[in-house]
Amino acid sequence: MKVLPIYTYGFDVLRKKTKRITKVDDALIALAQNMLYTMHKANGIGLAAPQIGKDLAMTVIDVSEIEGYEDEKPLILINPKVIETHGSIVLEEGCLSIPHLRASVERPKQIYVEYQDLDLNKKTIELDDLFGRVSQHEIDHLNGVLFIDHLAKEQRNMLKKDLNDIKNGLVQSTYILAEVPSKKKNGRKSPLNNI
Ligand code: CO
Repeated sequence: MKVLPIYTYGFDVLRKKTKRITKVDDALIALAQNMLYTMHKANGIGLAAPQIGKDLAMTVIDVSEIEGYEDEKPLILINPKVIETHGSIVLEEGCLSIPHLRASVERPKQIYVEYQDLDLNKKTIELDDLFGRVSQHEIDHLNGVLFIDHLAKEQRNMLKKDLNDIKNGLVQSTYILAEVPSKKKNGRKSPLNNI
């Protein structure tokens, strides 16, 4: 198992609509396993392929660490799509690609998701509350959408400085982040950071 660096806000790969998966080979299975491993190491409950720099419609979810969800098995969703929604609920969200920032987001409470498993068999699953929330967040990632996009303008403006810092590579994290290209970097390696 390999820990993969997490791509953060500012990387183009997080803003692209991902490619549909049409073939599952050993490399893709290994990638899914490494994504689960990376997510667990980062104390995450969901991780989408763009977050590890891959332009693929695949996400992994594991909510079993959360009270009330102990019996849930990890999910690997290929080409997932929300096909039906019910109700609405406000819950606080964060994102491994947007370290330290959290915000309350309103989304449907209950959803039906159509996806394919690792054998490319088509399945439909009903998910609600927290499980439904994580899934919607991850499926958003596969369409280049981040949770901050759901916030009201004023709410998002308050996060602007922190988002810029993340974009410029000026963020610390307990898990490994992909290196921000130096042209975007704004002083992370400055010797003055160490005085
Ligand atoms: Co996220």
